Amino acid sequence: MPGNVDLLLTAGNVITAGGFKKEAARGEAMRKLEIIEDGAVAVRGEKIIEVGPREKVLEKIAKETAHTFIHAPGMTLTPGFVDPHTHSVFGGFREDEFALRISGIPYMEILKEGGGILETVRATRKTSKDELLEKSRKVLDRILLNGTTTVEIKSGYGLDLENEVKMLEVIDQLQKEHPVDIIPTFLGAHALPEEYAGRSDDFIDYMKDEVLPYVAERKLARFCDVFCEEGVFSVEQSRRLLRKAKELGLEIRFHADEMVSLGGAELAAELGAASADHLLEISLAGMEKMATADVTATLLPATPFTLMKDKYAPAREMIDRHVPLALASDFNPGSCPTHSIPLIMTLACLKMKMTPEEAFIAVTINAAHSLGLGEDVGSIEPGKQADLVLFDVPNHRFIPYYYGINLVDTVVKKGKIIVEKGCFKEG
Ligand code: NIG
Ligand code: FE
Repeated sequence: MPGNVDLLLTAGNVITAGGFKKEAARGEAMRKLEIIEDGAVAVRGEKIIEVGPREKVLEKIAKETAHTFIHAPGMTLTPGFVDPHTHSVFGGFREDEFALRISGIPYMEILKEGGGILETVRATRKTSKDELLEKSRKVLDRILLNGTTTVEIKSGYGLDLENEVKMLEVIDQLQKEHPVDIIPTFLGAHALPEEYAGRSDDFIDYMKDEVLPYVAERKLARFCDVFCEEGVFSVEQSRRLLRKAKELGLEIRFHADEMVSLGGAELAAELGAASADHLLEISLAGMEKMATADVTATLLPATPFTLMKDKYAPAREMIDRHVPLALASDFNPGSCPTHSIPLIMTLACLKMKMTPEEAFIAVTINAAHSLGLGEDVGSIEPGKQADLVLFDVPNHRFIPYYYGINLVDTVVKKGKIIVEKGCFKEG
């Protein structure tokens, strides 16, 4: 096929995460990370057309016809990371709460006193759409520079029609203009706003009957989320809202069993959710039900780390019980001020005893499946979108092992080189 390869990359190791195009890897299969030593990937337009051992790919494509050629024998090429749980659009930051928590005041106590999420709600309501856009562009740039090429973003700092829609419109605009692919989630029931104090049922009704139908009608979100937690929204309230979301054509992923074992995992299985997230306090019955109902467990280890907890989600038990497992950042200004997926992998390995291979599967193909994108992104396979990251390390284990430094050299998004030598490419 002369003359029609736009980009050819060769690398010391190519981590394909291939073999799971139809459904997420589970159990033993999570350790079967496909690695091609001395490999190559050929790209045409936005798509991958060939991947395999370098000699074989070169034979097939006749190297001299490739328009651009990146030869990186000492580096490791991976799929672009998929981050399936973030709160990347918000007003303000919360560095004072960071200091407060270190002094011993718990996260949920701060929220109860009107701080935490509610502080970000006040800041977000005050911030104009243009200012939010400006700030979020910078966040997305950093996300991309760290190797993430697809990201889910939730609303949830508006908590009323006007401001939830403002957030979702910002997310929509970002989707149109930024190279990172964005999946929008409606999280209108993230906390009880001050104007509804003591009336959480009324608030759920307002979200269910007024805000959700508007969001669904305008197709502003693909998923619906809720913070199902003691002191926030009960299982019953969450069920009411999420059922309505399903009726209106939204898919479901939600914050479940983070602080207290309420039965969030069981609810996720009952509703056929795409994912239940956090799950530090998941019950054994909840694990079994999620495995049977095919609900992904999206674990967010940087959150208990930030909240200085000793306890993490029981990843090993979930893998043993064949729950499909993904990892995400949970990036937000309070409980998790990082969007570095390599750092998430480090914490997954050190705090939840996942192997580096399992962590890789969890931030690539399994994360993609949890967002319904498993056929398009999350692995390096012919026909998939050419979302690729070249890390300046000799093998994949360096990525969780050598932590706290950005090791990204090159990012390719939809076949285009966006990041070169760790910086945005000019022009
Ligand atoms: O996933 N738990 C609820 N929501 C976020 C926190 C958001 C915030 O603190 O601003 C979470 O941890
Ligand atoms: Fe979250």
